[in-house]
Amino acid sequence: MRAIVQHEYGPPDALRLEDVAKPVPKDDQVLVRVEAAAIHVGDWFLTQGVPYIMRLGTGLRKPRKRVPGFDVAGRVEAVGKDVTTFAEGDEVFGEASSGSCADFATAAEDKLALKPADLTFEQSAAVPVSGVTALRGIRDSGKVEQGQKVLVNGATGGVGVYAVQIAKALGAEVTAVCSTDNLDLARSLGADHVVDYTREDFTKSAQRYDLILDNVGNRPLAECRRALTDNGVHIPNSGRSQGRWVGPLGRMSKAALGSVVSRNQGRPYYSPVKRQELLDLTAFIESGSLTPVIDRTYPLAETPAAMEYVGLGHVAGKTVIAL
Ligand SMILES: NC(=O)c1ccc[n+]([C@@H]2O[C@H](COP(=O)([O-])OP(=O)(O)OC[C@H]3O[C@@H](n4cnc5c(N)ncnc54)[C@H](OP(=O)(O)O)[C@@H]3O)[C@@H](O)[C@H]2O)c1
Repeated sequence: MRAIVQHEYGPPDALRLEDVAKPVPKDDQVLVRVEAAAIHVGDWFLTQGVPYIMRLGTGLRKPRKRVPGFDVAGRVEAVGKDVTTFAEGDEVFGEASSGSCADFATAAEDKLALKPADLTFEQSAAVPVSGVTALRGIRDSGKVEQGQKVLVNGATGGVGVYAVQIAKALGAEVTAVCSTDNLDLARSLGADHVVDYTREDFTKSAQRYDLILDNVGNRPLAECRRALTDNGVHIPNSGRSQGRWVGPLGRMSKAALGSVVSRNQGRPYYSPVKRQELLDLTAFIESGSLTPVIDRTYPLAETPAAMEYVGLGHVAGKTVIAL
């Protein structure tokens, strides 16, 4: 099968289109014929092998996982002997175990769900990791309630486009922070207010928020907390950092420690994809309150260009690979 393969850590041109063996599903896994994949900033971190501390888990000198991509949508080709939820031919979406930038990928049964009927494979592949991350941040960690004031920093990136829509669906008054070019996109997602970060710093305004979901991490934690109501919570969600050794983990650790002493500091959270979250997102999609946003779609062979684009940090929605 065709697959994008990475033999070394490095810039996106370390990714090559090669012929490799089809992955074999374990007993509790599904083999998916990939119709579309999506890549996100986590894939970019893994390609680069930075921050270096991450290599303790991903392979010290070379990446253990040679094929990039987690988000997947496609058709079930075969199932392991313990799989009961899916059958050959089912159209599914979710998180792949082997890399999804390939003709076939394996995925654990509990990290897949049936594809939302009205979405294309490309739209479906744009949902899993970013959608689940937004759901956890807004609904589970943020516990957003009707009428609350929510600010999403990085509102038009992969996670942000879902976070704004989910917060609106839960009845919040949403402020979206993004660059000038993306203000209209933010409004189209339902944002009640927009802040252009090139002109205004949301931490300096007099406005106060019940929840800040921070997908960027470009303001000091203490300044973010000053933009909160008395019981408001700032939830940091990774973020970019120039530091090559620990990257955003320094800020994440500081936030985790801060959450012990300040009720306004939320703990960073991690969002492994689970079927129930995919089903919850499907319910939002089917009710019309959530629509995937695709910025660019690339053919498989152009995955390096797609990865380069993701690495720039200004994707408006999601970057999809169509097979
Ligand atoms: N917790 C988890 O399990 C989990 C899972 C997935 C992702 N994440 C983390 O979530 C974060 C967001 O991921 P993503 O996929 O949404 O990233 P993304 O698609 O690259 O989006 C980045 C966003 O940051 C904005 N931005 C860039 N520079 C900015 C600046 N100087 N000031 C304000 N905003 C700026 C961009 O807005 P413009 O385009 O308008 O400039 C864009 O909206 C990442 O840090 C990622 O590591 C966490």
